[in-house]
Amino acid sequence: MLVTSFLRALPAALLFLGTNAIPVEDHQKRQASIDAFVTSEAAVSIQGVLANIGADGSKAQGVPAGIVIASPSRSSPDYYYTWTRDAALTYKALIERFVSGDTSLRQKIDEYVSAQAYLQTVSNPSGAPDSGGLGEPKFNVDRTAFTGAWGRPQRDGPPLRATALVIYANWLIANGNQTYAANTVWPVIAKDLGYAVTYWNQTGFDLWEEVNGSSFFTLSATHRALVEGAALATKLSQTCSGCADAAPQVLCFMQSFWTGSYIDSNINVNDGRTGKDVNSIISSIHTFDPAAACTDATFQPCSSRALANHKAVTDSFRTVYGINSGIAQGKAVAVGRYFEDVYYNGNPWYLATLAAAEQLYSAAYQWDQLGSVTVDSTSLAFFRDLVPSIATGTYAKGSSTYTSILSAVRTYADGYIAVVQKYTPSNGGLAEQFDKSSGSPLSAADLTWSYAAFLTAADRRTGTVGPTWGEPSNNTPPTSCTGTVACNAQITFNVRATTTFGENVFVVGQLTQLGNWDPNSAKPLSASKYTSSDPLWYATIDLPASTAFEYKYIRKSSSGAVTWESDPNMSYTTSAGCGSSASVNDTWR
Ligand SMILES: *[C@@H]1O[C@H](CO)[C@@H](O)[C@H](O)[C@H]1NC(C)=O
Ligand SMILES: *[C@@H]1O[C@H](CO)[C@@H](O)[C@H](O)[C@H]1NC(C)=O
Ligand SMILES: *[C@@H]1O[C@H](CO)[C@@H](O)[C@H](O)[C@H]1NC(C)=O
Ligand SMILES: *[C@@H]1O[C@H](CO)[C@@H](O)[C@H](O)[C@H]1NC(C)=O
Ligand SMILES: *[C@@H]1O[C@H](CO)[C@@H](O)[C@H](O)[C@H]1NC(C)=O
Repeated sequence: MLVTSFLRALPAALLFLGTNAIPVEDHQKRQASIDAFVTSEAAVSIQGVLANIGADGSKAQGVPAGIVIASPSRSSPDYYYTWTRDAALTYKALIERFVSGDTSLRQKIDEYVSAQAYLQTVSNPSGAPDSGGLGEPKFNVDRTAFTGAWGRPQRDGPPLRATALVIYANWLIANGNQTYAANTVWPVIAKDLGYAVTYWNQTGFDLWEEVNGSSFFTLSATHRALVEGAALATKLSQTCSGCADAAPQVLCFMQSFWTGSYIDSNINVNDGRTGKDVNSIISSIHTFDPAAACTDATFQPCSSRALANHKAVTDSFRTVYGINSGIAQGKAVAVGRYFEDVYYNGNPWYLATLAAAEQLYSAAYQWDQLGSVTVDSTSLAFFRDLVPSIATGTYAKGSSTYTSILSAVRTYADGYIAVVQKYTPSNGGLAEQFDKSSGSPLSAADLTWSYAAFLTAADRRTGTVGPTWGEPSNNTPPTSCTGTVACNAQITFNVRATTTFGENVFVVGQLTQLGNWDPNSAKPLSASKYTSSDPLWYATIDLPASTAFEYKYIRKSSSGAVTWESDPNMSYTTSAGCGSSASVNDTWR
């Protein structure tokens, strides 16, 4: 307050606040200009997002309700498809807005739930619904499968969708609508989590659809979804087979992407790249937890690792784009996907530049909550770019060093917004890319993800954040990693068996869960749906996935006498999908 009025009293002064400071008057003008831009562009962005969603989006006419088109562009490039990833990240932004009070979005969110429930049933080149089909990256806008050649599968879609829907389900529960959460939203989430548990340890294509390997973004999205999915299952008295076991193993695997100075975004692939890729920055903003500390293991935005990575990734673009030339170290630059990129000859992307800003706003939020900033040997170079005199140490809120750091980081973050502002046309339209030499918009126009990225960056800038996903109690990787996690498939045994009063039916078989053939340990079936015309006995039992076994039904009289059905033994093999469900329909022999 004092400082502000002192500065205001010297309007013409060219007052420098350290090496990176700019004249105060210019600084204030620039600040006002960025504030105004953020306000106007956020308004354009929400309209831009809604225009690209069926059924009533102005640029998505004739598209079914709840389907998000990636862009209205139908040629050069043709992005008139719906991607599971883009749609989920877009809806995550919308659901966060809804949870923060924009009730107008409710119907659109319910339409997303229905549209995704439908897409989960569509067989496609990645597989059938219960055999890998959820990993299909994109569909035609009419919800039919896209059958052309593509980089598939992409395993980030299911966990990203689960995260968006978990935020909604938790809101429903907190607002007295457990029924809709359990009966309508949970079944969609459960299938996505089952996919994640089953496939997290297999390779797939990264978010840029180019590299077939292990992607840091996919793994970090998977970790978050499994953690919050397992917690939601508990709240709803549902099972999430393997979620709680797989989550720490995914976190364990994520540690191997850290090179010691930055995150190598793709491993288990020989892609000839350094791995410096905005993939990792987008991971940090997606898994940002407002309740978290600056945890290195989960690469939180304020963690030393994520800050060192921010520097490594953004610095890698300083020399490759003409529009970045002459910009000093420590000042924001235009950011692309990865500096070796050749798509459209390799250019900056709006969503990548916005992600660089969003990580820093999120970090500032975390330091403010935690009440201090720690500079260590890993993050020192990042901080030195902004505050050249800084030394390692912990600086408490209220100290002048803390204040300088926070102010420098926010100014640096605003710099990325200023880059976006500079290259955004006057109507506010956000394409996918902007030309590395001229700065003109390039590739698909009105990219939904660009607008969604603007919305989340603008929210973090004002300290508006989503709910916690449980990072504080799920941020310690086990000491040794394994890719093998036990998971179950749910089998419903239905048997038609006419019984007399006092008789009960059981299933017994080769697995521990089926009593190891011991009639005393056999599993009871229920007669709650039994009628004289349909003498149904049934039970739903969790059995290990991908397992072949033999079984039989037995009946026990009221005196305990056991009658076995006749030979042969029956056999069954459970599906490979964790959390999948199936039924067998038998008749007593
Ligand atoms: C629960 O949410 C659904 C979806 O928005 C809505 O249709 C339904 O009316 C809600 N029920 C209650 C009791 O609020
Ligand atoms: C599977 O997990 C193990 C243990 O973390 C890891 O070493 C391996 O690279 C992973 N493989 C894939 C394809 O994810
Ligand atoms: C991706 O890599 C895996 C091996 O890690 C391989 O089995 C699979 O066929 C590859 N997929 C494509 C489309 O090349
Ligand atoms: C059924 O399985 C049990 C236990 O393995 C075995 O003892 C029995 O011989 C099998 N019955 C037939 C008909 O194969
Ligand atoms: C068993 O019957 C139910 C309906 O009672 C049906 O939904 C299910 O598909 C059947 N399962 C098999 C394996 O035929």
